[in-house]
Parts: sequence; C-alpha cells; structure tokens
Amino acid sequence: MTRRPFIAGNWKMNKTVAEALALAREVRNAVSQVRERVEVAIAPPFTALHPVAKVLEDSNVALAAQNCHASESGAFTGEVSAPMLKELGVTWVILGHSERRQFFGETDAGVNRKVAAVLKAGLKPIVCVGETLEEREAGKTLTVVETQLKGALQGFSAAEGAGFVVAYEPVWAIGTGKTATSRQAQEVHAHLRALLAGVWNQETAAQVRIQYGGSVKADNAAELLGQADIDGALVGGASLKANDFAAIVKAAP
Ligand code: 13P
Repeated sequence: MTRRPFIAGNWKMNKTVAEALALAREVRNAVSQVRERVEVAIAPPFTALHPVAKVLEDSNVALAAQNCHASESGAFTGEVSAPMLKELGVTWVILGHSERRQFFGETDAGVNRKVAAVLKAGLKPIVCVGETLEEREAGKTLTVVETQLKGALQGFSAAEGAGFVVAYEPVWAIGTGKTATSRQAQEVHAHLRALLAGVWNQETAAQVRIQYGGSVKADNAAELLGQADIDGALVGGASLKANDFAAIVKAAP
C-alpha cells in the first residue's frame, strides 16, 4: 500500500495577517510542482485563516487550523468551533498538540471529543501524540503514545479512521533542534500502526498516514521520510520560511 506523503506546516502563534499572506504566497509558489506526488497543508493562526484561504484557492496547498472547540457553538468565550473553520475553507485540524496538552490542559478525552466535532463538521483530524524526555528515559514511550492514541481515537469506525492523520511528535524534539533518529522515529511509527490495526483493522492501519514532527529540517527530512512507516512531517519552525518548508516537501519520496 503506498501512502501519499503529507507535509504540514504548523505556524503556531506566529505571523500577522500581512506576514501570513506573504508567506502563504511564497509557499504556494514554491510547492506548486509537487501537486500529484505530495499533499501539502499550512496551519496559520486563527486570525490569518480567512485571508490565507483566498491565497490558497486553486492551489495544491490545503488550509489547516491548529485547534478547535468540541462544541458547535455556545457560551465558550475565546473559542472557535469546527463549523466556523469549515466555513473559512479549512480542511485539516491539528488536535492534541503537546503544547495544548502542556499549556492548556488538553486531555485524551478532550481530544476525542474534538475529533468527533471535526468529523461532524466535515473536516479531517491530525491527531498528535508524543512522549516527554522524562517518559522516554523511563522507557515509557510506547505505553504513553498507546494511551494517547487509543484515548483520542476511541469510538470511531474504521471507515472514519482511514481518513485520519496521526502525528508522532516527541516533546523533547519540538523546537529544540534535537530530532529523533530515523530509527527511534520508525520504531514508534511502526508501533502506532500496529495499534491502529488493533483499534480498527490491518487495511485501515495501512491507509492511515503517520507524520513525524520535532525539529524536521531540510537536511534531515529525506532520512526521516525514507522510513517505512513515516508518511510525512508536521513542521514547526522550518515552516515559517517558504524555502525551508518547500525543501522538506521536495524531500518526500
Ligand atoms: P519544530 O519543527 O519547531 O520542532 O515543531 C514541531 C511541531 O511542534 C509541529 O507541530
């Protein structure tokens, strides 16, 4: 089964609208040749989604959001719902990023409710999992990602699951310049795929794309993306420069 590589840029809390428009234009132009081979998305902050959507019209770059609320509407001051994102032309929503877990108290059960909201709105989830340095050093990596994955995915059918993307992001590799070695990453990715087969079935597990995230750069992307179970990348810092991001996109096999 060949899975189409999927490279997504998570801009986090960066870029004003003016800056976001300029970067989105550069990214759109820089990756226009990979249309068939690689799927590409960018996740600007909420404030820039609407203007950036216009820049990406008729391009091969999809729009992603970095979070959403689990409810469709209501008294949740400061939150944004999945239907609101859909209206803006968003396709993907990143859920359960470690920064949301760490700084905003996000839990596996909460991520599970957000996945349901995303599907109901006709959007697609990128579900993030990953261990801290302390957990890795204690030999708990595989059990930590298992709990996170099963918690986030419970209750969804195999047919729904086939469209999910999972992102393995070891917390110790995010923004630190320390990348997991391709062997460390592949080990976890293979484990995640086996877990997906247990949650759903082999066929579905073979369809789900599993991205790696954590200090992915132009010079380590090819090695990581060359691993059997690494189907793409979720890129933070390097996605803020169009040339760096495009180089990662082009490194996909
Ligand atoms: P960096 O690429 O900056 O390490 O960030 C990774 C990440 O958190 C993407 O979601």
